[in-house]
Amino acid sequence: MTTLGGQILLPGPTGQAVIREGIVKIDGEQIISVDFEDVTCSVDLGCPNALISPGFIDTHLHLPQFDSIGAFGMPLMPWLNQVILPAEQRWNDHRFAAEMTDRVARQCLGVGTTGVCAYATTSYDATIQALKAFDAIGFRGVIGQAMMDRDTPPDLIRPTDQLVDEVNETLLKFPSSGRLAAAVTPRFALSCSDGLMMQAGKLAEAHQAIMQTHLAETEAECAEVRNRFGGKSYVDVYAGFGLLGPRSIFGHGIHLGPECQSKLARSGSLIAHCPTANSFLGSGTMNRASHLSAGVKITLGSDIGAGYERSMVRVGRAMIDAAMRIAGNALSSTDPRSSVPNAAEAWYQITTGNADALGWTDVGRIASGMSADLCVIEPDIPWRSAQDPLSALMFAWDDRWIRQTILRGQVQYQSTQSSSMNPVAATRSDGASRP
Ligand code: GUN
Ligand code: FE
Repeated sequence: MTTLGGQILLPGPTGQAVIREGIVKIDGEQIISVDFEDVTCSVDLGCPNALISPGFIDTHLHLPQFDSIGAFGMPLMPWLNQVILPAEQRWNDHRFAAEMTDRVARQCLGVGTTGVCAYATTSYDATIQALKAFDAIGFRGVIGQAMMDRDTPPDLIRPTDQLVDEVNETLLKFPSSGRLAAAVTPRFALSCSDGLMMQAGKLAEAHQAIMQTHLAETEAECAEVRNRFGGKSYVDVYAGFGLLGPRSIFGHGIHLGPECQSKLARSGSLIAHCPTANSFLGSGTMNRASHLSAGVKITLGSDIGAGYERSMVRVGRAMIDAAMRIAGNALSSTDPRSSVPNAAEAWYQITTGNADALGWTDVGRIASGMSADLCVIEPDIPWRSAQDPLSALMFAWDDRWIRQTILRGQVQYQSTQSSSMNPVAATRSDGASRP
């Protein structure tokens, strides 16, 4: 059994995180109790100044793109063709893919990410390898073999039937009932034939699997889609192939009118908002408040490598920035009428909010019976006395504050920073090294 003590991040009643001092007990893979009491020096991990958070969930990222972060100055399509697709070709070499997968997993752990909805490449072997590696570490989530059978470089394109067979195989090996599952991942309408998208819809339905793709990221992409599909809207194109639904995650969703919003809302589809990627590629600013008021469910994702922040805390901050750009800062974010989320809402989004939207009932919350997927965070600032402690933490955020990342009850990342370097944490308990 392991005990963690500190300020526990909990979902409040209105979609905002709150904190309460207490002790979390872990036995095996699960949280067995949460007691709200003063933290003493007898805990294994944490201290009164620590934040104990559910592990962060990143609902849109590309594993083969972590080495390509920062290719600045191009809009989506040239960036894809000149930078990203060549990088993804390297995953055809399974040794390189395995080495990179390992590096990427460690980077995720180092920023507190314990749950992912990730894209691999069109390589079946590299995808299976990534599924096995992430599963062995204990990540929650999905990884999908990217499906592309047209308008794609020869080394990445695959025949339609081969993709359908291989993705079916990934779904059999990593079923949707598992903690880490395969996802159906038609990359986006422009790299898929009609037949492939139709088969993707059938596979997702047959396996009750998560389907993930990209939607309405740039105006130019939307125009190309209209052009290829006889003037149909992007949402109607996906709807026509049976790709809308409550297990469907659409990355970006920036350029959507009210009709598209209401189709997405009625189908229960999710939009993975990726604010860092959107500003990096100059794709536009997604109007989160508008989507939410139309009833569309929103998750948050880093979209590495268009996104340049691995840390979901920083992506949460970018979500606030993006909303601020749209609102023109008209209302203070503490005004309940404001469309700008505050830090408490952003903390909620990257933990409970993302888990709930995905229907993951075993993670995203610190409560008895939940999987012990947690971060122990020891800030070196006097955050508890700040006017808004969660805002202080989010805006002053430093990845080095993460001391442990715990997946399924196991410490999978342990900071090498000494806590004695951290004067504010001087009140912490001893015995920090025990998993
Ligand atoms: N649209 C199709 N593929 C991609 C991708 O890899 N990244 C982003 N940001 N958009 C895409
Ligand atoms: Fe993406």
